[in-house]
Amino acid sequence: MTIIFDKSKKISLDDESFRSELLAIASKIKDVIPLGRGDPDFHTPKHIVEAAKRALDDNKHHYTPPNGLPELRIAISKNLQEKYNLTYDENEIVVTAGVQESIALAMLSLLETGDEVLITSPRFTTYDLNVRMCNAKPIPIPTYEKNNFSLMPNIIEEKINDKTKLIVLVSPNNPTGAVTPPENIKKIAQIAIKHNLIVIADEIYADLIYENHEHLSIGTLENMKERTLTLNGFSKTYAMTGWRIGYVAGPQDIINKMSEIRHSLSINSCTFSQFGALAALEGPQDEIIKMKDEYNIRRKFCMKALDDIGFSYGDPGGAFYIYTNVSNSGLAASDFCKKLLEKTGVLLFPGTLFGDEEDKYIRLSYLQPINKIQESMNRIKKFINE
Ligand SMILES: Cc1ncc(COP(=O)(O)O)c(C=O)c1O
Repeated sequence: MTIIFDKSKKISLDDESFRSELLAIASKIKDVIPLGRGDPDFHTPKHIVEAAKRALDDNKHHYTPPNGLPELRIAISKNLQEKYNLTYDENEIVVTAGVQESIALAMLSLLETGDEVLITSPRFTTYDLNVRMCNAKPIPIPTYEKNNFSLMPNIIEEKINDKTKLIVLVSPNNPTGAVTPPENIKKIAQIAIKHNLIVIADEIYADLIYENHEHLSIGTLENMKERTLTLNGFSKTYAMTGWRIGYVAGPQDIINKMSEIRHSLSINSCTFSQFGALAALEGPQDEIIKMKDEYNIRRKFCMKALDDIGFSYGDPGGAFYIYTNVSNSGLAASDFCKKLLEKTGVLLFPGTLFGDEEDKYIRLSYLQPINKIQESMNRIKKFINE
């Protein structure tokens, strides 16, 4: 008798299998240029690594409080105030295993069966899975190239009904790199207040905003702190993806609930990683400025190269992604990615992995040294011409 395990509608493996298919093809090619993943090519700055080693040498081998080391939470609170004008004290912060776990904790502590969650889309689809695991429903809020993929308040309002509980605002967004401008953020805040909704503001890319673009943390606006959970972390800004440190800042009662759930999931975030994160906030910031400058050089290079090829894109004001329309190639985006990989060794992910239903876009992450990016653009040009 065959046992059918996959009866659950909560989890679809379709997207995952296409990603795996691309990675399997890539593993057989010698000189692949990977422009698919969202993991910085830089290593974590040395002083952060040294701080974690010191913590181990100093016998910091034990549990911390479930919501994180007090000194780290104090440093996060100071950083949120100085950088984003967000006022949270250390008791309003839970340190998590990356923003990934912040997302899970937020959903687990807020959602009931049947709730609807509005999510900036195309999107980081971790949100879908976490919402579904709570028997709730993800509702994509489409963003469009013609608006540079900014989140448009009127489109949010159209999707609200009496089941709507949360708005997930990701700015800058993954996969589009779009920064939703302050005037839209202010309108989104008014909508949240009018309809009594909670906002999850995923600001993991808020340190990576480039010239002529401005970030506004929605939690700073009047009457918003009490209905906003601000999510942020160390993976992207400090090139610390493997350290698994993120955090949620929010109203005390929700934070207390999360802290309980957090304790039952994994007790606390890795202790020596927390000491590394503390050094990241308290130590010199010049390396993160250098990384950001380098990302900006690559970003501009890619935009120019895409212009030459004739592929359009929404203005990538932040993060390290460009979301590009490849319809000019005559191929659907997923076919484009597969053929490009097989023929040239350039690995890109199609927008279908981020909820693009039209199969027109690809996400390019400029997380390779500039010479590799130049080489990849030459290969793409050649592929198109052939
Ligand atoms: C929008 C967004 N949120 C959260 C995460 C999770 O980041 P981490 O768990 O490494 O902090 C990512 C990672 O790519 C992301 O793009």
